[in-house]
Amino acid sequence: MSFRKLSLLVFSSLINCFFSAHVVLVDRFTFIVDDHDLFLSQSAVVEQESNRSYLSGHIMINRLVNDLTLVSTMDIMRPPRPDMRLYTVKLNFCSILNNAYKNKFIRMLYNNYAEFLNTKPKCPLKPNFNYTLTRAYVDEDMLPDLLPDCTFRMKISFQQKSKLFAHMQIDGRWLTKR
Ligand SMILES: *[C@@H]1O[C@H](CO)[C@@H](O)[C@H](O)[C@H]1NC(C)=O
Ligand SMILES: *[C@@H]1O[C@H](CO)[C@@H](O)[C@H](O)[C@H]1NC(C)=O
Repeated sequence: MSFRKLSLLVFSSLINCFFSAHVVLVDRFTFIVDDHDLFLSQSAVVEQESNRSYLSGHIMINRLVNDLTLVSTMDIMRPPRPDMRLYTVKLNFCSILNNAYKNKFIRMLYNNYAEFLNTKPKCPLKPNFNYTLTRAYVDEDMLPDLLPDCTFRMKISFQQKSKLFAHMQIDGRWLTKR
């Protein structure tokens, strides 16, 4: 761990101890394009500010896209113990966007992140529209108290049938207030 990260961690933990039960720090946020013909432009940025990490980014595609599938996994790492897979899910992304999922947790996640977007995206996704995410963060109060302190890796890929369009990865740390 670099000194900057370490001091950030210590600083964040200190501040956060007074305000909240958890700290979720994101060290790395990437969005990688797999279908270069589809994307006109994209970005992914993580900013560290006092006790929080903020995620921003945008995508712009060049044609209508429908029938999107989202595949996601999340692993937690607590060496020397073996990595633990928290979940593997495969969801109809367009159903999430178009409000067709009745699952309460998915609705809650969607509503939480939709507020950071410049529009409520619907399928089919539109060409030449700049879908922008601005300073999204994890609402610590939303998460259960169940997780032990750990580092985590969350992967999400977007695909149409078996064709991979893009994938993103979020690496971070989850710390519980003592
Ligand atoms: C972060 O710190 C600010 C004050 O510096 C506080 O208002 C806010 O609630 C804190 N957020 C969290 C998640 O602890
Ligand atoms: C899309 O919007 C973002 C955020 O405002 C901006 O940084 C980016 O340059 C825009 N991209 C295009 C291609 O318009």
